[in-house]
Amino acid sequence: MMTSDGSTTIHLPDWNEQYHSKHGAIQEAYHVFIRSGFDKVLECKNDGFSILEIGFGTGLNAFITFLEAKKKGVNIHYLGVEAYPVVYEEIQKLNYVSELGAEKNQVIFDNMHTTSWGEQHFIAEGFKLIKRKQFFQDIQDQNTVDLIYFDAFGAEHQPQLWTATIFQKMFVCLKSEGVLVTYSAKGSVRRAMQEVGFIVERLPGPPGKREMLRATKIDQPEITHG
Ligand SMILES: C[S@@+](CC[C@H](N)C(=O)[O-])C[C@H]1O[C@@H](n2cnc3c(N)ncnc32)[C@H](O)[C@@H]1O
Repeated sequence: MMTSDGSTTIHLPDWNEQYHSKHGAIQEAYHVFIRSGFDKVLECKNDGFSILEIGFGTGLNAFITFLEAKKKGVNIHYLGVEAYPVVYEEIQKLNYVSELGAEKNQVIFDNMHTTSWGEQHFIAEGFKLIKRKQFFQDIQDQNTVDLIYFDAFGAEHQPQLWTATIFQKMFVCLKSEGVLVTYSAKGSVRRAMQEVGFIVERLPGPPGKREMLRATKIDQPEITHG
């Protein structure tokens, strides 16, 4: 289906849910993940950093991250976790490359989808991609990630993915000072993040949403006795 900024997304009729905001898939992705996440981490790590995406889906976030990384000259290790890969016929119906005016990089978008799962690929100079077919609930990485794009379907459809149990896993994945961004601004989500130790900010949301959340892992100083 078409969203308000002219970019397409995938609609799930059974849930009446989309992979992206109806108010503009590309606009939402840039606002939430690039401007509020990528650019924030870039302030401190301008030679390179690692990103975990929760829900690789259509690859839109991976592709715009590649475009930004190229523009800003930063090296990215990108790990996309996804339990239900989108079939390639569906991917070919999406108009992201043309809407982004990125036809020169069409091959990069295609390679992001056609390369194998579970292995690291050098998609372009400075951009390494691993797609991992895995349930979010099974993620066990520790202290390896600088930035998480938390882009699961809404809590009304998958409440189990917006709990302290999942955010605890995200907290453990992140390095100290690591950042998680998500389009959600629900109070219950914010409290679940705080419960596991995140410092949470409410930021202005993308078109159609008042707010979004950014959570930062600030390690508490160790208390020494004696
Ligand atoms: C909102 S969509 C992601 C959109 C994606 N970031 C993009 O730009 O296209 C959520 C994604 O999470 C995946 N997903 C849903 N439940 C999952 C689970 N329990 N474990 C892993 N992936 C899951 C879906 O298949 C879907 O691709």
